Amino acid sequence: MARNLEKCLRLVDEDKAITSPGAKVPYYPLVVRKGSGAIIEDVDGNSYIDLLASAGAVNTGHCHPRVVEAIKKQSENLILYTHVYMYHEPIIDLTKELIAITPGQYRKRVFYGLCGSDSNDGAIKMARWATKRSKIIAFIRAYHGSTFGAMSLSGVSLPMVRGMGPLVPEIYHVPFPDPYRTPLPG
Ligand SMILES: Cc1ncc(COP(=O)(O)O)c(C=O)c1O
Repeated sequence: MARNLEKCLRLVDEDKAITSPGAKVPYYPLVVRKGSGAIIEDVDGNSYIDLLASAGAVNTGHCHPRVVEAIKKQSENLILYTHVYMYHEPIIDLTKELIAITPGQYRKRVFYGLCGSDSNDGAIKMARWATKRSKIIAFIRAYHGSTFGAMSLSGVSLPMVRGMGPLVPEIYHVPFPDPYRTPLPG
């Protein structure tokens, strides 16, 4: 039986008229109302298994009760925090935790990015600073984000890149070393 997507399709049309076209990859008219664990529900009441875990950002599942509880608790104390101007104990605790669970026994420092793109820009800066070399290799078809550094790394053709150059220099795109998914014919 075909799914009813009436409200989803209407909202997708509304969204298209007012949202930047570079900001979405519209595979399917999925307008999410809520999520719980691995299941997400759209505004027409259809359920889906989120095999992508929202691009890996919700590996504990959608709205895990402990995550919801932690967000509620934190929002009662402090919502906005700018690490440049002040310190905050829960961040220090989180940093210690991250250092403890990441592999390797050496002195570690943590950098908090605002999103994946910001983290990749941070990686470019750190790699160039640490090696004193500027050339970077990125893979064709890999997506790294939407900030200037991250979109310069991204080897995919997206409207968000076209006509916005020059991009960050000295980034070279190479095929992924996988003989089954080579971009070359044959
Ligand atoms: C592999 C990968 N890297 C980077 C990003 C960029 O992350 P963000 O959208 O949080 O900036 C994404 C986002 O989809 C991604 O899938």
